[in-house]
Amino acid sequence: MKGVVLAGGLGTRLYPLTKVTNKHLLPIYNKPMIYYPIQTLVEAGIRDILIVTGGNSAGDFLRLLGNGKEFGLSHLSFVYQEGERGIADALSLAEHFSDSDKMVVILGDNIIEKSIKHEVKIFEKQEKGARILLKEVENPERFGVPEIKDGKIIRIIEKPKIPPSNYAVTGIYMYDNQVFDIIRTLKPSERGELEITDVNNRYLEMGQLTYGILDGWWTDAGTFESLLRANILVAEKEKRK
Ligand code: G1P
Repeated sequence: MKGVVLAGGLGTRLYPLTKVTNKHLLPIYNKPMIYYPIQTLVEAGIRDILIVTGGNSAGDFLRLLGNGKEFGLSHLSFVYQEGERGIADALSLAEHFSDSDKMVVILGDNIIEKSIKHEVKIFEKQEKGARILLKEVENPERFGVPEIKDGKIIRIIEKPKIPPSNYAVTGIYMYDNQVFDIIRTLKPSERGELEITDVNNRYLEMGQLTYGILDGWWTDAGTFESLLRANILVAEKEKRK
């Protein structure tokens, strides 16, 4: 199983914090944001990790992370996303790296309390397709939201005005290598991006999307509110240690 951390984009919702640097280099309590998703992958037993970056300060990631020694890794891979065409576009740059292996993909601003090891184990056994992780939230309209009937996801709607459930699709996705063919068929959304929700809906249509519910707290950190929340949650967790 390989790991991909998506850390591109302009982070415009955090201007001016992201005017001269990349969102994923901003501090979350005592570490740069990107440390947390890398740690999530490493903790789940993944040792072969690609960082997809772009936008501001792309070179700083190499200086900050080096070969991943701080995480107990012997190497890290990097690719550069030209332009800001969305999460699925960023993921398409992982095709060469994936070498037909299955992957766990995590958004560089997604921070969690607990482990995804168990979920990764389940996906290892899944013959093909994709697996997503859901989390109950108070403001689902900010996220990709699944409509669930009789325990089954019927469809996922990106940032719905009227959310069909209280669950968010978290930014932790598991894919087989069909994902790259799917991305090639996508058209940009209204916000001009190739949407990861469209990828997940395609797997759903193929009857190959499974899901789990994430254990412990989850937050992204792409808005002022969620950045603050992420800092508080991580600080509380560190102090409990
Ligand atoms: C993205 C995805 C959304 C998902 C969220 C998780 O949203 O498009 O489906 O729920 O990440 O963090 P964005 O950060 O682009 O608003």
